Amino acid sequence: MCADFSKRALVVTADGSHTVVLTDSEVHYHSVHGAVQESKHVFLRMGWEALAKRSSPVHILEIGFGTGLNAFLQYELSQTTQTSVFYTAIEAYPLDSELAYACNYAQVLNAPELQKDFEQLHTCAWDAPHVFSDTFTLLKRHTHLADYMPAQGSMDLIYFDAFAPTFQPELWTVEVFQKLYDSLRAGGILVTYCAKGDVRRAMQAAGFAVERLAGPPGKREMLRGFKGGFCW
Ligand SMILES: C[S@@+](CC[C@H](N)C(=O)[O-])C[C@H]1O[C@@H](n2cnc3c(N)ncnc32)[C@H](O)[C@@H]1O
Repeated sequence: MCADFSKRALVVTADGSHTVVLTDSEVHYHSVHGAVQESKHVFLRMGWEALAKRSSPVHILEIGFGTGLNAFLQYELSQTTQTSVFYTAIEAYPLDSELAYACNYAQVLNAPELQKDFEQLHTCAWDAPHVFSDTFTLLKRHTHLADYMPAQGSMDLIYFDAFAPTFQPELWTVEVFQKLYDSLRAGGILVTYCAKGDVRRAMQAAGFAVERLAGPPGKREMLRGFKGGFCW
């Protein structure tokens, strides 16, 4: 599919938080049932909280940096829990800073004092690590997933937040999941909001032990894959 990633607008979702929509295709960056709710549920609750053993720092890889919402929530969490995180996020089509700054996540989280930090997630340079605090380092990689090759066994947790397989099927293949599986340490986790059978089977073919879990508001299910063939 030849998508136009340059025409984008902000939309308010059901929990009051913003998301971005690709105006030509009407594809949203988050669930319209609540962007912050979805990110907290899929990535923090079902991903971060399920990590049995946390290395220091915990290495997280996000596929699709977008608005920076997941990175922002993880930053806030690393501050409040004093848990050290090295967060790598890849993005092929970065947002204009004007649109990104307008996202109301700091306000929705009742933390207006974090707006500057949120903006810095966007202004910091691509392809170089940026130390935000004692507990949070961000490395944004401006690249396509197809061109990105993470080191084997280097990640603890993957937030797979690509556009839906109906829109970008090339990002949901066995080959992609194999690369991501190989990048995880034993016991590592990949979480995604998607619950499609084809995606579950592609993850399984790559080696993941996959669980179907309750989804965020407005969505029945989501998927979580473990490396190592065990669940806990
Ligand atoms: C569903 S949105 C999620 C964005 C983000 N996680 C957020 O919370 O805003 C998917 C993101 O993947 C990016 N993307 C699309 N194709 C990509 C590719 N081939 N490689 C890397 N990123 C891609 C899009 O530009 C978009 O930012």
